[in-house]
Amino acid sequence: MNNPSRYLITSALPYANGPLHIGHLAGAYLSADVYVRFLRMMDKDVVWVCGSDEHGAAITIKALKENTTPKEIIDKYHTLFEKAFEQMNISFDIYHRTSEPIHHETSQDFFKMLYDKGEFIEKESDQYYDDEAKQFLADRYIKGECPKCGKKDAYGDQCENCGSSLSPTELINPLSTLSGAKPILKSTKHWYLPLDKYENWLKEWISDGTIDGEEYHDPSKWKNHVLGQCKSWLDGGLVPRSMTRDLDWGVDVPEEVQGSEGKKLYVWLDAPIGYISATKQWAQDNGKDWETYWKSDDTALIHFIGKDNIVFHCLIFPAILKAHGGYNLPINVPANQFVNLEGNKISTSKNWAVWVNEYAEIYPDRIDELRYHMIKIMPEQKDSEFTWQSFQDSVNNELVNNLANFVNRVIVLTHKYYDGKVPEFDPNIMFESPYEEDDLAGFHESELLILHDAVHELNQNIRDFNFRSALQMVLKISQNGNQLLQLNEPWKAIKEDEELVKVVMNLSLQIVTVLSVCIRPFLPNASNRMRDQLGLNHDIDNGSLVSMLDQLCEGELLINEGHQIKKATHLFSRIPDEMIETEKAKLVESEEGNEEQSKHIPLKENIEFNDFMKLDFRTATILTAEKVEKTDKLLKLEVDLGFEQRTIVSGIAEHYQTDELPGKQIMVVANLAPKKLRGVMSQGMILLAEDENGKLTFVSAEGSFPNGMVVR
Ligand code: MF3
Ligand code: ZN
Repeated sequence: MNNPSRYLITSALPYANGPLHIGHLAGAYLSADVYVRFLRMMDKDVVWVCGSDEHGAAITIKALKENTTPKEIIDKYHTLFEKAFEQMNISFDIYHRTSEPIHHETSQDFFKMLYDKGEFIEKESDQYYDDEAKQFLADRYIKGECPKCGKKDAYGDQCENCGSSLSPTELINPLSTLSGAKPILKSTKHWYLPLDKYENWLKEWISDGTIDGEEYHDPSKWKNHVLGQCKSWLDGGLVPRSMTRDLDWGVDVPEEVQGSEGKKLYVWLDAPIGYISATKQWAQDNGKDWETYWKSDDTALIHFIGKDNIVFHCLIFPAILKAHGGYNLPINVPANQFVNLEGNKISTSKNWAVWVNEYAEIYPDRIDELRYHMIKIMPEQKDSEFTWQSFQDSVNNELVNNLANFVNRVIVLTHKYYDGKVPEFDPNIMFESPYEEDDLAGFHESELLILHDAVHELNQNIRDFNFRSALQMVLKISQNGNQLLQLNEPWKAIKEDEELVKVVMNLSLQIVTVLSVCIRPFLPNASNRMRDQLGLNHDIDNGSLVSMLDQLCEGELLINEGHQIKKATHLFSRIPDEMIETEKAKLVESEEGNEEQSKHIPLKENIEFNDFMKLDFRTATILTAEKVEKTDKLLKLEVDLGFEQRTIVSGIAEHYQTDELPGKQIMVVANLAPKKLRGVMSQGMILLAEDENGKLTFVSAEGSFPNGMVVR
């Protein structure tokens, strides 16, 4: 699609199960924000939708962990997301949520359509069921040993250690994370989308960019890592994928569907449909027609996501849309890779992250600084790394020393020489130009043309999703501005060559004006601050880039001679060392906190097998229990070992009442040499487990057992 009339932009709906961190920001949100702001400034018809993803096991697991309800969880994180996005000036047209009725309806209608068209295969299969919790287990609810790498605690859908994607039945020794029980296999019916049926169609669409032989998109514009991931999935062969789940949280399978009871839509079916329901809501609120944005062939659909979502947006959702019919497919899916933090993967559970809400609350005046650095290190082609040191360097060297410095010099000098009025100039005056291309130094119009070309190139970079390069172009324009001043030294020339100074200062003011427009997609606050100083309005979100390009092309000035500018203020200030130190210390603290949590009593030295075999463990039952006189901790227990009864003294008086003990089944070390404790002869030792708070519990076998059994 060469020149779409309209754009529909989506950003991955974040799971409402944890706060937003800088990795999310650089992945699917800042990238799209730059792109969408740019489109608006190019006067394009664009709508950008996003919202919270409030279904799926991610939510219920979090609720379980926090001992609360899914509803509490989604409300809490939805509110936090909304706030974080607002704080960072992420300019969605709508931030919706998948718990809204309009979304439930939309996704149910969608499902119903696929069902009525006969697109699903109904299949009964055995799936893991927790007989204690009385429910089927979502993949994420099952943990076990990874069949590929042997690591414990792999999930039913994925091993986080080796990255393999798994199915729950592959796990060795699976356990339910709900109850800890061993899950049993139980038959259940689900509706599968036969992805294999779409394999060739998907191949053609992705690799050739064609649908039925007709050109749809240009694959050379897609990122290599995105095409690579798609290709490897396609080469591996697609299989039917279940579009429903046995869950009690999510969108109900529509009633009209036979056997729908207790079934919910698969979260990766309902969530992307969330893009559609969000568009519907936006259209309703704004008197628009949602269908033009999803169904006209002159609308371009683009999904901004992180790399873990590629298969869903490039294969599964397109197949779903195709099965439904009538919907556009994306013309590009510019997925970003991941951002690491100070040498480690960002991790919510380990609290190894920079939290957006927290940053914005502590540094409300440094929003654009974070935006700047995250765009500068955006993981467009490969993973990148955030360090507080590099953040400080970017801000101080680039925003302060280059951009803010240039703007400040121009504003201050204009006040000093011309009382803050843009000077008139003689276009025939020669001056030193920073542009190598310029062999017409002194001819003002050529400078404006060069600026035009620079802005044009910057725009092209944004169109190609090369936001890092685009940001570099902004800095280049400002750097050339600094050089213009450096080469012509108005502070010296003002004494002997006033005409030269006028040309140079006028051109500098034009450059500052260009910058105030160009930085806007990246640094909206700074753009406003710059325009305040220039005495220009903020009202440039729509169409300003088009009109600026036209003006530059025509050699028209952007800021007129005689225009009164305002006082100089600071555009950016230096990041002090203390801020960096504080933030680094916070990370280390949180990491130490984590180590604390996972601190375990160190293992003792290895022993030989023969040493172990010397121990004689037996099963036994407590017959009677009484306190040992004049002690707080000791109990005197009569225990039955089957073949004999004996007395054992044990330090459990603070953990068990004497009357709850008779009848308890326990484990005993039966061949420990007898020892007198407080006057009582103890013949053996009872096995006790101790938790981190020192609480003791009997070690016991599963079920009930006869006394005297050998334990190994
Ligand atoms: N919630 C998912 C994640 O955070 C993304 C969902 S994107 C959508 O990985 F397309 F499904 F909406
Ligand atoms: Zn593994």
